[in-house]
Amino acid sequence: MDYVIEMLDIRKEFPGIVANDNITLQLKKGEIHALLGENGAGKSTLMNVLFGLYQPEKGEIKVRGEKVRITSPNVANDLGIGMVHQHFMLVDTFTVTENIVLGMEPKNGINIDLKRAEREVQEISDRYGLKVDPRAKIADISVGMQQRVEILKTLYRGAEILIFDEPTAVLTPQEIKELIQIFRTLIAEGKSIILITHKLKEIIEVCDRVTVIRKGVGIDTLDVEGTTPTQLASLMVGREVTFKTDKTDSNPKHNVLEVTNLNVKDSRGVNAVKDLNLTVRAGEIVGIAGVDGNGQSELIEAITGLRKVTSGKIELNGKNLSSYKTRKITEAGVGHIPQDRHKHGLVLDFPIGDNMVLQTYYHKPYSKYSMLNNKEINKQAKKLIQEFDVRTPSEHTPARALSGGNQQKAIIGREVDRDPDLLIAAQPTRGLDVGAIEFIHKRLIEQRDNGKAVLLVSFELEEIINVSDRIAVIYDGSIIEIVDPKTTTEQELGLLMAGSKNKAGETENV
Ligand SMILES: Nc1ncnc2c1ncn2[C@@H]1O[C@H](COP(=O)(O)OP(=O)(O)OP(=O)(O)O)[C@@H](O)[C@H]1O
Ligand SMILES: [Mg+2]
Repeated sequence: MDYVIEMLDIRKEFPGIVANDNITLQLKKGEIHALLGENGAGKSTLMNVLFGLYQPEKGEIKVRGEKVRITSPNVANDLGIGMVHQHFMLVDTFTVTENIVLGMEPKNGINIDLKRAEREVQEISDRYGLKVDPRAKIADISVGMQQRVEILKTLYRGAEILIFDEPTAVLTPQEIKELIQIFRTLIAEGKSIILITHKLKEIIEVCDRVTVIRKGVGIDTLDVEGTTPTQLASLMVGREVTFKTDKTDSNPKHNVLEVTNLNVKDSRGVNAVKDLNLTVRAGEIVGIAGVDGNGQSELIEAITGLRKVTSGKIELNGKNLSSYKTRKITEAGVGHIPQDRHKHGLVLDFPIGDNMVLQTYYHKPYSKYSMLNNKEINKQAKKLIQEFDVRTPSEHTPARALSGGNQQKAIIGREVDRDPDLLIAAQPTRGLDVGAIEFIHKRLIEQRDNGKAVLLVSFELEEIINVSDRIAVIYDGSIIEIVDPKTTTEQELGLLMAGSKNKAGETENV
């Protein structure tokens, strides 16, 4: 059999947990092989073993039939294995080219031959259809573009086997289409791919085979042809998953959030939010639908105090928040599940338990006479870990050691449990498995049913339509239309998001 990679009976332990318990994964040359499993199942760990970041306690790895010891990422690179990580590892202040050639710079005498580097980057970029601007700074380019830089970096190092850890979680629907096209080009060029994703439809669309793991144990490897999302979901979770969000009609009351004529500038000083008006009432979920970059991030940052308001008003229960600092806004009753959980959500080196009281630690019962009350903090952490199914050995484990999805569940638990009058959920289910998504949707609806206001921002149109009571379409910094999810299809929503004024999609010549 023509396997390029064989991971046989791999075991990897961490203190208090067996992350990989005798898992076997075999990759055929030229295939796209999905690795599927719940949050914390051990997917990233297994791939980190293959990339030489972790040493397994037991098991064997063969590359092109030969037994190898992958003791570091450099060894992995030499064997033709490249990895695009769940969280990117680029230097923000460097250019695209500088990041790609980092550590392998072509030299001209003792100096870096930047001209040649740029030329080489351009060559692989053309060959694989990975469009980038070789001279742009990482900080100035989109997430989708940064991901291409990561892919180019592996190709520049001669990767034949590419590992992608949740590459589509951070992308917009359009960028996902482009990435899938890139996968096809890579396969056509003779590469082999391992793909971690929670999106079952993606697996069915692009993968040849799938290996399912559950709680660190290998469950099965099967051909994708002939399987359904429902079948994959139940294999992975070990129970039926419905994919349907049950909810009754909303019963909205008074205005909780009232945004009037809001203007906000983006990081480059350009107007990103323009005379925007929006209301969210008690007892309803308002979903914001829009193509990335139409002002949704700046709007959320303004409401939560992370970005300055140029003009206009943001009122919470009639109180103007627009000049408040983040902590005061939090205390006024705003909860925030941030889009970027590493930047705004967690302190990675702190225990996960401490992260769960990040906004409340200076209050009773968590503090007394300016001293932290660890007993109370741990009690609260234990409660949230239990309730939100945060899979961690204990509340003392550093946040960094939790799997991506479990970090996200911890943030959601913390924010929901504070029971804020207004809960802002930005891409709340990004990186979560289907079971966890179902659970989070239930909790958002529960908040609504308890009379809270919920503002949901998501690129997943299915999520927006299933969870929201009203959908506000944002385009070029303004809300251009409010629609009823019950009578709007994904297609109609897509057209509105592209700036077309009426649902039927008849083009208006303006
Ligand atoms: N460096 C580490 N130290 C201690 N425990 C770890 C470390 N890395 C992972 N773990 C634990 O190993 C288990 C598997 O984690 P892993 O990141 O592989 O999950 P995953 O399948 O990638 O999940 P997700 O879909 O949420 O990304 C988890 O219980 C996690 O807490
Ligand atoms: Mg992971």
